[in-house]
Amino acid sequence: MTPSHDVPPSHDALSTLRVALGERSYPIHIGPGLLGDPQWLMPHLAGRQVMVVTNETVAPLYLDALKRGLPDELEVHALVLPDGEATKTLASVERIWDALLAAGFNRRCTLIALGGGVIGDMVGYAAASYQRGVAFIQIPTTLLAQVDSSVGGKTGVNHPRGKNMIGAFWQPRAVLIDTDTLASLPPRELSAGLAEVIKYGLIRDDAFLSWLEARMPALRRLEVDALTPAIERSCSLKAEIVAEDETEQGVRALLNLGHTFGHAIEAHQGYGHWLHGEAVGAGMLMAAELSHRLGWLEEDDVTRVRAILEAASLPLAAPAGMGEADFLSLMRLDKKNLDERLRLILLRRLGDACIHDETPPEMLGELLENFPRQ
Ligand code: NAD
Ligand code: GLY
Repeated sequence: MTPSHDVPPSHDALSTLRVALGERSYPIHIGPGLLGDPQWLMPHLAGRQVMVVTNETVAPLYLDALKRGLPDELEVHALVLPDGEATKTLASVERIWDALLAAGFNRRCTLIALGGGVIGDMVGYAAASYQRGVAFIQIPTTLLAQVDSSVGGKTGVNHPRGKNMIGAFWQPRAVLIDTDTLASLPPRELSAGLAEVIKYGLIRDDAFLSWLEARMPALRRLEVDALTPAIERSCSLKAEIVAEDETEQGVRALLNLGHTFGHAIEAHQGYGHWLHGEAVGAGMLMAAELSHRLGWLEEDDVTRVRAILEAASLPLAAPAGMGEADFLSLMRLDKKNLDERLRLILLRRLGDACIHDETPPEMLGELLENFPRQ
């Protein structure tokens, strides 16, 4: 289903992909207007008890539309948390547990995550841990959550010493992507989501990368004939990788292109100052530069990576004041590292990523020192 350059598909209709994980397989429904239509949600509820968890920004936009569509026989509660990455803590998960216990929810309850990746990750972890695991459904409302975080079952929260350090693999029962929700997304958040879309092209699909290069202005204008196939292709690549390697023993680590550098930027700046996708964008350019220094990418390839990130309005420089030593100390905390070796996701070619743990330290040091600063 690689989007073609010549034939723009029509995207008024709903499409469904599948994450193939045996008896834990689940659908990803993608299309406009899904949110208020209960037919997509109902088959995946474990019982009558439903807790919708969202935040103060998303609730006024979409909570009523979601609740209105649900039949009266359900017992529906809603919990509205504060907005922001700083909320992605165990204390917020405790608030979800408290709300579930206060409402007398049993093991046949269903949690619904309505929001971006912060809500999705936290609600997923609350579902994984409440009464040793209950059902949950993802309704992602940011582009980043629609193409990445809602699919694949990585759930969790941040710890003051590291991002996403506490969590579990816990798959949702379904992912419902209502593309209409992107209309209210601020442009900076849209760009952050585009970073993850570009990531799929870079790691696994050079034809998709070329397709994206041609459509970046249309994507930024939210043109449906560009946006919907971009979401579909991203979800399809993610579903394929997750089905191959659910718990990141191998190929799933490739989804972390740019993340080792990016997580260091986020942690150094304080969570929430740089958006996750912005940090990943700058990190992918750093990974491309390093891949060039290793002799894998041509200078022209790096220029293409820089150009598509720029077209998506993503940062092309690291934060001012973040030195080589800051990067290195934070990068050493990365979950991918084994036996104290720094494992980086790099590019052998555009569309072909690899895991690499033999970067000469002086080469990495030189990159970190010379990469542009804001
Ligand atoms: P986010 O959840 O903070 O959402 C970004 C902002 O957009 C928030 O202010 C939110 O309230 C607002 N928002 C959400 N939907 C909106 C809408 N439709 N209209 C207007 N505003 C809306 O951030 P994010 O970028 O969605 O997710 C980032 C998080 O996802 C990070 O914590 C990151 O670690 C995590 N993540 C997880 C995975 C995974 O596999 N689990 C993958 C990538 C990222
Ligand atoms: N976003 C990385 C992963 O799901 O593995």
